[in-house]
Amino acid sequence: MKFFIDTANLAQIKEANELGILDGVTTNPSLMSKEGIKGEEGVIEHYKKICDIVDGDISAEVLATEFDKIVEEGKKLAAIHPNIVVKVPMIKDGVKAIKWFTDNGIATNCTLVFSAGQAILAAKAGARYVSPFIGRIDDGNWDGIQLIEQIASIYTIQGFQTQILAASIRSSLHIVKCAEAGAHVCTCPLEPIMGLLKHPLTDIGLAKFLEDGKKMGSAIA
Ligand code: E4P
Repeated sequence: MKFFIDTANLAQIKEANELGILDGVTTNPSLMSKEGIKGEEGVIEHYKKICDIVDGDISAEVLATEFDKIVEEGKKLAAIHPNIVVKVPMIKDGVKAIKWFTDNGIATNCTLVFSAGQAILAAKAGARYVSPFIGRIDDGNWDGIQLIEQIASIYTIQGFQTQILAASIRSSLHIVKCAEAGAHVCTCPLEPIMGLLKHPLTDIGLAKFLEDGKKMGSAIA
């Protein structure tokens, strides 16, 4: 399973990248706006900075909702860097635009996906990624992980090449469950990624090893 970080914060992107396990980045208008990014130039410059940090797919979301405008905006985003993946919402004109991008060699991430039917449409249109929003589904008392399982099963049976990008991740357990359920990618804020490191028995075990190690004298250096 690939790991993407779900933020537009450059410091957090650098921290995750330095861990050596990062495969890409996802952003959305809310995450970009949180970093104070404004205007076309600001957006372009910020994506250039992200692409300079991470060598992997970087999702950049369109704001347009009409076919012609989605295509126009997506072409501009794709021109920023070869690693940019145009993120398009799961709406009628979005599906049409994803098909257009597919036919024209531009990679896409179909976002705001909440059902298996929507995931089938995204795959039929040729999206590179489909983004089911696990956390938001759980927030509504449905089961986000069950949706990942369902999409994974359908994609396997049908031989779809679209990769399931589990999004809206709220916890480290979500990441583990997404891996079990067959997600190809998990996009997460920094905290759940770092949370995977934690186990109290690791801390207790390391403290004991270090204590006993002192009895051995200096370490090999
Ligand atoms: C990423 O692709 C999504 O936009 C993001 O994961 C949504 O997360 P949220 O539900 O925490 O806003």
